[in-house]
Amino acid sequence: MSTVTLTGSLNLLRSSGTSCENMDFITKANIKGKIVLLREDLNSDVNKGKVLMSERIKQSSESVKFLKKKSAKVVIIAHQGRPGGEDFTSMEQHAKLLSKFTKVNFIPDIIGEKAEIAIKNLKDGEAILLDNVRNLKDEFSEEDTDFVKKLSSWCNVYVNDAFSVSHRSQASIVGFPKHMKSYAGPLLEKEVKALQKISLKNCLYILAGAKPADDINLLKKNKVLACGLFGQMCISATGKKLGAQDEYLKKTISDYDKSLTDLKSRLGEVGSLVKTPVDFGVKDEKGKRKDVALEDFPVNYEIFDIGPKTQKIYLDEIKKAKSIYMKGPAGYYLDPQFIQGTKALLTAVAKSKAFSLLGGGQLNEAIDRSKIPKKKFGYISLSGGALLDYVAGKRLPGLEVLGYYKD
Ligand code: 3PG
Repeated sequence: MSTVTLTGSLNLLRSSGTSCENMDFITKANIKGKIVLLREDLNSDVNKGKVLMSERIKQSSESVKFLKKKSAKVVIIAHQGRPGGEDFTSMEQHAKLLSKFTKVNFIPDIIGEKAEIAIKNLKDGEAILLDNVRNLKDEFSEEDTDFVKKLSSWCNVYVNDAFSVSHRSQASIVGFPKHMKSYAGPLLEKEVKALQKISLKNCLYILAGAKPADDINLLKKNKVLACGLFGQMCISATGKKLGAQDEYLKKTISDYDKSLTDLKSRLGEVGSLVKTPVDFGVKDEKGKRKDVALEDFPVNYEIFDIGPKTQKIYLDEIKKAKSIYMKGPAGYYLDPQFIQGTKALLTAVAKSKAFSLLGGGQLNEAIDRSKIPKKKFGYISLSGGALLDYVAGKRLPGLEVLGYYKD
C-alpha cells in the first residue's frame, strides 16, 4: 500500500522512532501445537443485557480462525465494559457470537482450576474464551500478579491482537510480554501497518463517544466538531444546564467531575476551535423524536442525537475539510429515530474528497447500519480511545512492550 498523503507535505500519523520492523508478527511464526494466549478486544454494545454482534467480534474471529488453522491451541482473553458499568458482563455471549464464525468454547473462569484444566485439555486447532479479565483486580495491577503468573505458566506464547486496548497499561496488555515470547496478532498488525502510512494534515476532528477523558487529548490546534456525549459535556463545561441529560451524564460518565474540570480548562484555551451542538434530538413522553434548540434547555427529556441545525453547520465544515478524523457516533444510532445525525455526518464524510480516518467500535456499527459502503472512507479502524492517543502522538503501552518504539 502506498502512503496516503493529503497535502503534499508529509505528516505521518506515527511519531518518529516507531517501526513495525521491531515487532514480531504471529502471522510469520510457527505455532503448531503451541498454547497461544490471545488478547482480543471483543468489547461490544450491550442492549438490555444482550451482547450485540459487532465488527470487533467478526474481525477477531478471523484471527482465531487463522491460529486454529495453524494448529495452535488458542486461549482467548478479553474484556466487556468496565466494573460497575451497565455493559459489564461475562464473556459467555461473546463465545456464542464468535462461534457463528469459528467454534469457541466459553470457560466461566480465568485463573482457577476450571481454566487450568480446560487449557491442559485443549487439542491442536481448538479455541476457548476465558471470562471477563476485568473481573480480576489483578487486571488493574502493575505488579506481577497471579493472573499473569498462572496464565504465562500454562500457555507458551502471548499474542496481542487488541490495538484498541493498547492504550491501557493493564495486565492483559502489558503484563504477559515481560514473561513470555510475545507477538502482534493479525488485527494489530493490520492496524499498525495501515496507520503508519496515513497522513493527517489540517485535520478536522469529529469527536464523540462516551469517554470524554479520551477526547480531551485532541483538543489542541485543530478544528473540532463535538457531538455525542462528548459534545454535551463540552456544553456542560460552559455552565449550561441540560436538565434530564445532566443526570444521565453524571450516571454514565465514570469520571464525570474530573472530565468536566479538565474540559473547562482546555476549552478555555482552545474553545474557539470547538463547535458544539446548537440543537438536539430528544425522546418525548411517547418515545418519539423531537428536536429542541439548545436555548430551550434545560428540559425534562434525555438527549439521543444532534439536531438538524447542528447537522447543517457540521456538514458545511465537513465540505471544507482537507482531511477528517471521526471518532464515535453522534447519537444513539441503535434506534432508527436517532441514527439521523450520525448518518448525515457519515454520508457527508463519505462524499467528501478529504481523506478520512474513522475509529471506534460503535462507529463501525453505525457505518454498517447507515448502509454506506466502507470503501467510501479512507481507513476504518476498530479502535476508539487507542487511536485517539495514537493520533495525538502518545506512546501506547501495549505497542511499547511489543518493541514498536525504537527509542
Ligand atoms: C474500547 O472500546 O475502546 C476498548 O475496548 C477499550 O475499552 P476501555 O476504554 O474501557 O478501556
